[in-house]
Amino acid sequence: MIDSTSPRSRELRVTGVTRSFAGVQALSDVSLSVHPGEVFGLIGPNGAGKSTLVNIISGYDLPDSGSVTVDGVDITRARPYTRARNGVARTFQHGHLFGGLTVRENLQVTAMGTGKSRRKAATVADDLLSEFHLQDRADAPAGSLPHGVERRVGVARALATDPQYVLLDEPAAGLNEGEIGEFSDNIRHLRDRGLGVLLIDHNVRLILSVCERIHVLVEGRTLLEGTPDEVRNSEELAVAYLGRSASGHR
Ligand SMILES: Nc1ncnc2c1ncn2[C@@H]1O[C@H](COP(=O)(O)OP(=O)(O)O)[C@@H](O)[C@H]1O
Ligand SMILES: [Mg+2]
Repeated sequence: MIDSTSPRSRELRVTGVTRSFAGVQALSDVSLSVHPGEVFGLIGPNGAGKSTLVNIISGYDLPDSGSVTVDGVDITRARPYTRARNGVARTFQHGHLFGGLTVRENLQVTAMGTGKSRRKAATVADDLLSEFHLQDRADAPAGSLPHGVERRVGVARALATDPQYVLLDEPAAGLNEGEIGEFSDNIRHLRDRGLGVLLIDHNVRLILSVCERIHVLVEGRTLLEGTPDEVRNSEELAVAYLGRSASGHR
């Protein structure tokens, strides 16, 4: 097992994470923490380092320096599979469902991936199908789903590993306004279930409406972190994130 430190504060914590790729400084000394029962937003222009951070938290990439801990347990170098067992799950920016499998099978296979028996995994899948109102899609191939439903399945699938923290990388991309409203309810549902949610999205309205706190990255560095009101009223953000001059922004 991985060493743990005490006291175990309940949080997903990133401390001083730095990562560069062949001369590109993707992340410089980034620190943040996500608590159970909150939706934590991560925003920033393209290339800000958001996906790199999610890859590092979920074990698909390693930082050059810095650490990732879950409830005090260091998982910086743990494999993705181990992280699922430590309570961290993610969705991918581009779906990643098994298109040839049905919705139920996608959920079941993911649950089996954390060591559940076929039968237990089937129960997990059925529970998630009803929790996410997917019963009528259970036997449809995942590759045939409309966007909005596909995203819902992506979130349900992340929950099949029974995580405490879930990382959502642009889960609402490509959804229309109606679908985004529905999807916001799914995200609030995760929070109400006690999960800590790290949400990345370009839709600032969505972020401002569902997040308790928001962290802004620009070119791999933290610009600011605050409540939706603090972020909404930030002149720094207007300048750096929206790319406007402060005087031109009202
Ligand atoms: N595997 C990689 N190899 C080289 N450069 C990368 C790699 N992954 C990300 N980058 C670079 O790191 C920076 C941050 O990228 P990314 O984390 O995808 O940003 P975001 O998700 O905020 O748009 C970009 O300049 C990107 O080109
Ligand atoms: Mg990205």
